[in-house]
Amino acid sequence: MILEDQYFLGYRSAEHERLQAQAEDFQSEAAWLFDQVGPLDGKTVVELGVGPRGCLDELARRVGPDGTVIGVEREAESVELARKFVVDRTLDNVDVRHGDARATGLPGDSFDLVTERLILHNVPRPEEIVAEAVRLARPGGWVAFHEGDRVGQVCDPPAESWTRLMDVLKRYADRNTIDLFVGRRLPGLLRRAGLVDIQVRPVVYIDHEPGHPRRVVLADFAENLRDRLIMSELITREEFDDLHAALRRHLVDPGTTVISHLYVQAWGRKPG
Ligand SMILES: C[S@@+](CC[C@H](N)C(=O)[O-])C[C@H]1O[C@@H](n2cnc3c(N)ncnc32)[C@H](O)[C@@H]1O
Repeated sequence: MILEDQYFLGYRSAEHERLQAQAEDFQSEAAWLFDQVGPLDGKTVVELGVGPRGCLDELARRVGPDGTVIGVEREAESVELARKFVVDRTLDNVDVRHGDARATGLPGDSFDLVTERLILHNVPRPEEIVAEAVRLARPGGWVAFHEGDRVGQVCDPPAESWTRLMDVLKRYADRNTIDLFVGRRLPGLLRRAGLVDIQVRPVVYIDHEPGHPRRVVLADFAENLRDRLIMSELITREEFDDLHAALRRHLVDPGTTVISHLYVQAWGRKPG
């Protein structure tokens, strides 16, 4: 089964909740990345693919009352959740728009910062989103991305359920031209899109204590994809359910350590 322009993680309500918790968890990494582009007071920022929250609160605080943050998201329910987040937090300088990060319809050469987090490793044709980000940035403005690469995502001790489900997920992504290893391509994608002064920072987590939601992320992702994997005939329903239950048991076991995938933060300036 190949779905045109598929979004890998799907839109279960459990996935929305996971993204909200993850946004909280990534707060310090987001802050670090935005520190690299200098003060944003009074500036205009676009965040692409905000999901139910993204970095909207961090950006709103940084641009202050004289600045503006536009969030763009293509899934209607995420847009509603992000708008609710904006109202609940009284983020008066934030506007969440329902739209496509590949063709936002926003004016080009206009924004001081264009940012996104974790869209590219979940969709086909990442270069189109990079091109739109660069188009939106003003000459001299910044583009700052935070992406994923599944290199090095392992558990210890190893488990058959992990290895088999990881393999099925990778084969499914390949079939749908989604690059789960796009993080390593990020600096090159930014450079080819015309940015200069590109810098990169790797981020990785080692979760050895039980309880952190990141430990079970592979099981969460597999669950998001369950029906699509079965329909694709990459795995039977029975095998999936057995492996998935075994994987969850393994990941919540206090004796298991999980090393996250590699996150790649890369940022650069548009010449001008
Ligand atoms: C993994 S989530 C990350 C959400 C948010 N950036 C964060 O880090 O908390 C990726 C989001 O990108 C959105 N997305 C995927 N393709 C998109 C596109 N072409 N235009 C706008 N949003 C898109 C998805 O709907 C999803 O909400």
